Amino acid sequence: MTKVIRIDPQNINTEEMKIAAKAISEGGLCAFPTETVYGLGADALNEEAVKKIFIAKGRPQDNPLIVHVSSVDEVYPLVKKVPDEFIRLCEKFWGGPLTMILNRSGKIPPVVSAGLDTVAIRLPSHPVATALIKLSGKPIAAPSANLSGRPSPTTAKHVIDDMMGKADVIIDGGSAFFGVESTVLDLTVSPPAVLRPGAVTIEELLSVLPDVVFGSGSGAPKSPGMKYRHYAPKAPLYIAEGDDAVGRINRHSDKKSGVLCYNADPSLFTAEYVISAGDNATEYAAHLFYNLRKFDELGVDKIFAIPPEEGGIGYAVRNRIFKSAGGNKI
Ligand code: TXA
Ligand code: MG
Repeated sequence: MTKVIRIDPQNINTEEMKIAAKAISEGGLCAFPTETVYGLGADALNEEAVKKIFIAKGRPQDNPLIVHVSSVDEVYPLVKKVPDEFIRLCEKFWGGPLTMILNRSGKIPPVVSAGLDTVAIRLPSHPVATALIKLSGKPIAAPSANLSGRPSPTTAKHVIDDMMGKADVIIDGGSAFFGVESTVLDLTVSPPAVLRPGAVTIEELLSVLPDVVFGSGSGAPKSPGMKYRHYAPKAPLYIAEGDDAVGRINRHSDKKSGVLCYNADPSLFTAEYVISAGDNATEYAAHLFYNLRKFDELGVDKIFAIPPEEGGIGYAVRNRIFKSAGGNKI
């Protein structure tokens, strides 16, 4: 039985939160909102509890999890040592959507890190997430709360669609703010490497780490999660960009198709279901996964998406939408 608890992030009801915290401290699963997407959490120090996450999501065993903390001090027992950059990055980006990879201590069960010597750690800014961590008294291992391969959940309804009967508690704390996941930065390699573009932009990172590189240069381990097809709606998705994207979409689509429209007049499309992605990359990000799930509900046969420009959060959106497309382009 899954209990759904509604929590107002602006006015947190501690008694209700304690029910959720108890699920975590007793080795259960609790889905909770963060500023990026919803997470599916378990006590990161309880191996049996963490195994339940992989089962609930159908997640491949070789894809490690992010450990969420509620203060910088909680990081020290979990890692071997903290590099200088870590402190500077914490000051600028925590709480917030930056995940940092450090060498893990023996306290982190290997299952959390899928057997790697490293651990990914993040301090979220969402008050419900930090309250859950504090009240449970545990660091919380949490991937996005979707079934593996599906678009990440940005509302409690999405989580209910994927996790009803699987999680012990689902906290409904309203819509996630950024709509794309955290930026994953590997601090165990030199220079530090961004393994997943996310809500903290490359430009923001460069202001603190001028030598940061994108991708895993110098033979460093890639983020294992990035190799799988991800964020996939039910219908096949095709990317259309550049000159005459509208014309190409109209030639490939039919009545039952969906279009995620950006930088174009929605009335130009002949397909039945046209959803506007927003006026800029930030709006595109905030509604991207919501819109992909909307196309599922509408039962479209194909989806055509015009991606946002590169730069800022646009990199993260492009990364997600190209993965949703699994290489399909027109
Ligand atoms: O915004 C977010 O990061 C959300 C919220 C819930 O915090 N979480 C999230 O988790 O997106 P997940 O599991 O869906 O994505 C975590 C990514 C995966 O690509 C995984 O492979 C990578 O982080 N990762 C985790 N630990 C790693 C490690 N030790 N080394 C390299 N990559 C790691
Ligand atoms: Mg995920």
